[in-house]
Order: sequence, then structure tokens, then C-alpha cells
Amino acid sequence: MANEKTLQDIISHCKEYGFIFPSSEIYDGLGAVYDYGQYGAELKKNIRDYWWKSMTQMHENIVGIDAAIFMHPTVWKASGHVDNFSDPMIDNKDSQKRYRVDHLLEGFAETLPAEQGEALLAKMDQLLAENDFAGLKSLIEENKIKCAISGTCNWTDVRQFNLMFSTQLGSVSDEASEIYLRPETAQGIFVNFLNVQKTGRMKIPFGIAQTGKAFRNEIVARQFIFRMREFEQMEMQFFVRPGDQMKWYEYWKETRMKWHLSLGIAADKYRFHDHVKLAHYADAACDIEFEFPFGFKEVEGIHSRTDFDLKQHQEFSGKKLTYFDTELNQHYIPYVVETSIGLDRCFMMVISEAYELEDLSTPGKEDNRVVLKLPAMLAPIKLAVLPLTKKDGLPEIARELMEQCKPYFKCFYEEKDAIGKRYRRQDAIGTPFCITIDHQTKEDQTVTIRYRDSMQQERIPLASVKNLIMDKIQLF
Ligand code: GAP
Repeated sequence: MANEKTLQDIISHCKEYGFIFPSSEIYDGLGAVYDYGQYGAELKKNIRDYWWKSMTQMHENIVGIDAAIFMHPTVWKASGHVDNFSDPMIDNKDSQKRYRVDHLLEGFAETLPAEQGEALLAKMDQLLAENDFAGLKSLIEENKIKCAISGTCNWTDVRQFNLMFSTQLGSVSDEASEIYLRPETAQGIFVNFLNVQKTGRMKIPFGIAQTGKAFRNEIVARQFIFRMREFEQMEMQFFVRPGDQMKWYEYWKETRMKWHLSLGIAADKYRFHDHVKLAHYADAACDIEFEFPFGFKEVEGIHSRTDFDLKQHQEFSGKKLTYFDTELNQHYIPYVVETSIGLDRCFMMVISEAYELEDLSTPGKEDNRVVLKLPAMLAPIKLAVLPLTKKDGLPEIARELMEQCKPYFKCFYEEKDAIGKRYRRQDAIGTPFCITIDHQTKEDQTVTIRYRDSMQQERIPLASVKNLIMDKIQLF
């Protein structure tokens, strides 16, 4: 029997088992900044590697790059982030607490009966699309939405607030040296478009992929690693002929959804959400939403960005960013379809889906276990090697197996505590396979393999362990 899981269950589990800790915890943490622990770092790396391989290795026309976090400040003027990368905010005058207007209204809508909530959100979408800030304030006031801290409806006007962090380059603190921490990785791809196209002799359509840190001064940062101030993105810009963008937009919608389903997550946990208010650069956009413990929310965005970015960079840099299409015998600025997924948000999706509290009670005996049913290819530890006792030569056989397997996948060795306890600890960190070495191993060279999800056990030849695990953790 699987119990309902809450966000708090996931947060506690991540902390208790070394997946995620609050940043600088001994100093009481830093808002919306988190550190990944020993198992979290492995799981995150495995998700990143899976994405990277799916995008680059499995698509012959997509290559990966690794651009710097710092970029020339004019990049952000050209991209529109200096002028447009802001959210409408409202402050409560009594508590001084600042809210993102959409979050305040969304939070309130969740407290209403479904139909009323939907009507409120539809009105909000319309006002946001029209940039009608006075209308948004009226909507908050008409609904008598209160500040969670002061409990009053004493609101300021709605204002725009830029989300980029800035810092100084070099030692002289003047305006000319002000630079930004990138709020998205995409611009590192756009400014390298011609470098990659020419040195890689890439032909349209082709893509450039990248993973890396991005920074946003989120005002309302909540829901754990769902909305962070420092996070990681996995983005891919696909350069296409002008006019072909809708065909590729549909292609990437379908391809990205297939990737999500390949994680073993059921189709009904996902849905597409088409944007009503399009970003300044887009002619079509949608989100892939996943059903988190707190409802359906965006994990990934797919955006048809037109030729906006390359055109802007061409204008602001004065450098030509056109492509010569030999088939059409024509120069043009390519159009771009982007897929953009947050690695941390994807991590949260994977771990929320995997987390289960199982009630294993049999009459007269109460028992339960917490298990992470992670896809084997993503699990932080693939194989635990457990000698039944610390003596009789069993640890030596186990150590030999460790030496044989560890060059190929991440293994874990443990000889302390009863075997049942050791199995439970591996269940909690999502280890898909445990091998137990016992006295019979010495007689017939067989071991017990125990499967995490079914808890079934069977005897297999010791010599077959490495290849069997290798088979089961294949990415493709
Ligand atoms: N280049 C396009 C772009 O950055 P976005 O919709 O702003 O688009 C893409 O972000 C993805 O990045 C989101 O779908 C989400 O998964 C992730 N993301 C955005 N802001 C985030 C934050 N504050 N914390 C964690 N992930 C975030």
C-alpha cells in the first residue's frame, strides 16, 4: 500500500539521506539556495548525463558547449533581459512583504472552488497579457486577498522588479564594469552560434545544447528546489529555416515528452500548458507540466523564439550572424526552437515520483519501508555489496566483487548491521540491486541478488553479477 506523499516528506527524506541540504545550514541557511549532498550530487549528475546523451549523442545534428556564466553586459541589453526580465510585484504596506502578483493570485485561486479558481486565473492571464497593472491590483483588492504575514489587504501599486543579479567585474566600482550573473544559459549559445556553425561545419537544421548554472533573484522562492535563486538549466537551441519553426516546434514538443516518459513516469502525470502571454521573443510557447505533490507545475519550456535573439545580437554587436543556406542559395538569420528544462526541477520531479512509503505489515507484525523507486540508470548507487557476516572469508569475496564492478558503475560496500537493516538503508537511497555474499557462496560460487522494488531474491552465479547489472542500467 502506498501512502500519499507530501512536499514535507520529500524535503525531510532528501535531508535525512544526504540528497539535499539547505545552503550554509550552520548559519541558518540562505533563502532558496540549496546544496546537493553525496547521493543528491550523484542523482543530479545522472539526470544531467541522461539529458546530455539524449540530446547530443542520440542526435547527430546537435552538439554541446560549455559557455561562461559571465558574459559581456551588452548581451543582456540585446536579449531584452535588462528591460524586460521582470515580474509584476506587489508589497504589503503593513508587513513590508513583497509578493509576485501571479503567485499571490494563484495561491488564492487554490483556496476557491475549482470553477471560481479557474475564472480568477483566466482573468489574471488576460491582465498579465495586457500588462494592466492597475487591473491586477484591483483584482487582488476585489478578492480581498490578504498578506499571509500581516493578515491585511493594505497593498502598494503593482510594480516591475528585475530578476537579474549584478556584480562588478574588476576592482574599479563604476557602472561600466557592472555585469550580470546569467539568468538563462541560452544566451551563451546564441553568441556562439557562428563559432559552432563554422568550426563544426553544421548545416541547418542543427542544435546546440548546454547545461549550466543560472541565477534569478526570485522574490517568492518557495517549494524547496522548485524555485531557487541559483539553479541549473539544460537548454538546447535548434536553428531552423525561417518558416519551418512550427514544424520543429511540434517535433520538439513530441520528442521532449517522449524523453519524460522514458523516465518511467506515467503519461497522466504530465500535461502541456500553452502560453497565453507570450514572452517578447516567442511566436509559440508551451510548458511540460508535471504533477508535483503540490499540483501540476512547469518542469520544461518549449519555445519558438523566432530570429529575435540572433537579430538582436547582430544589431547590438555589429557582427553579421547570418547563415548561408547552400540548398536555397540564400543568406538568412535562422529561426530558433528552444527546449529548456531546469535540472533541479527535474530532480524534484524524479525524486517525488520515486518516493514511496510502503506499508508491509503482516498480521501481528508491523513494518514499513521508505523506498526510492528510481529508474536504475539514474540511481546514485547501482549496486550494494553486502557480506552476510564480517568473518569466514565473506568480506574478502565481497571486496573482490567490488573491485570487479566499481570501474563500471557506482557500488557501495557495507558489512555492519543485520542484513534487513542494510537492505532498508539501500531502499531509502534508491539502490536497485543488492548482492549478499553468504556461506553458500564459498561452496558453489553463487550469491543472492535482491531487487529493490519487488524485494524478491534469487541466487545467481557470482561471475554473472557485473554483466547483469551493466545490462539493467543501460541508458539506451
Ligand atoms: N531560456 C528560456 C528560459 O530560461 P524559463 O521558462 O524561464 O525559460 C526554463 O526557464 C526552465 O528553467 C523552467 O522550465 C524551469 O524548469 C527552470 N527554472 C526557471 N526558473 C527557475 C528557478 N528559479 N528555480 C529552479 N528552476 C527554474
